[in-house]
Amino acid sequence: MAATAERIAADRMEIRPLTGALGCEIFGVDLANLSDGEFAQIHQAFLDYSAVMFHDQVLTQEQFAAFGQRFAKLEDEPFLPHRGEVPGVFYLRGAPKNGKTLSTQNLGWHADHTYQRNPSMGAMLYARDVPAAGGDTLFASNYLSYEGLSPAMQAFLDDKVAIHDVLQYGLNSGHHSAATVGAIEMLWKMRQKFPQTEHPLVCRHPETGRKMLYLNQAWTIAIKGLNRDESDAVLTMLKRHSVRDVYCCRFRYRNNSLMLWDNRAVQHSPNSDYTGQRLMWRLALHSDWQPGT
Ligand SMILES: [Fe+2]
Repeated sequence: MAATAERIAADRMEIRPLTGALGCEIFGVDLANLSDGEFAQIHQAFLDYSAVMFHDQVLTQEQFAAFGQRFAKLEDEPFLPHRGEVPGVFYLRGAPKNGKTLSTQNLGWHADHTYQRNPSMGAMLYARDVPAAGGDTLFASNYLSYEGLSPAMQAFLDDKVAIHDVLQYGLNSGHHSAATVGAIEMLWKMRQKFPQTEHPLVCRHPETGRKMLYLNQAWTIAIKGLNRDESDAVLTMLKRHSVRDVYCCRFRYRNNSLMLWDNRAVQHSPNSDYTGQRLMWRLALHSDWQPGT
């Protein structure tokens, strides 16, 4: 009986791909009351599409955290100071500066926590109070950027290792806070907590097994074993290549939208083109995966 009800509920779920590259929207599901069958479909969509959006979800913080915990245990976000009421949930606030300029989330393309040995599995944002327009999130597929390289470049990169460094927060990305002394001191404290780490430039996704180009514009600073000019030239090319339009999708939020992404398989870029207040709840999904293993 329970299995039948579960199958009927799962049949109502509709997965609509957003682009030919990656990304989908899922309709016909209530994230506060998920059956195991529905979760299995959502988890498969998470792996297949890398970025998934739901709309019109009504969740408490406990329910938001519980949905995250179906994927993995939750982890702290070192750069977000405002903790929610429930462990693992953080407030992500974009506020106007001087009443009209852009928000504080101008980080540009990055993947979360790659300056750590074990980058996040993924993350979720739940839109609580968002502007009518603006603040979209863009995603770029690490699978497609790898597959779009020539066989000769793929072979060249196959055994190369890149260095990721938290000190680059802002310096490579355009985050305005890097211009202040306080921000630079904060970065230095972060660097003491998170020393430089190394990840292979090409690796396989731990669940799908697909090969990926593994780098991001914010934290990847050098290719080990190359001289400075060589490293800069190749990384500049790869960073530009990795976010080509054909590898990307873009999501627009409205209140009660929930965004979920596979941080292992994508870079993302929060678009800071809005001027009003914005409040999201955020959580990060922990992974013990070390790229290349
Ligand atoms: Fe991020």
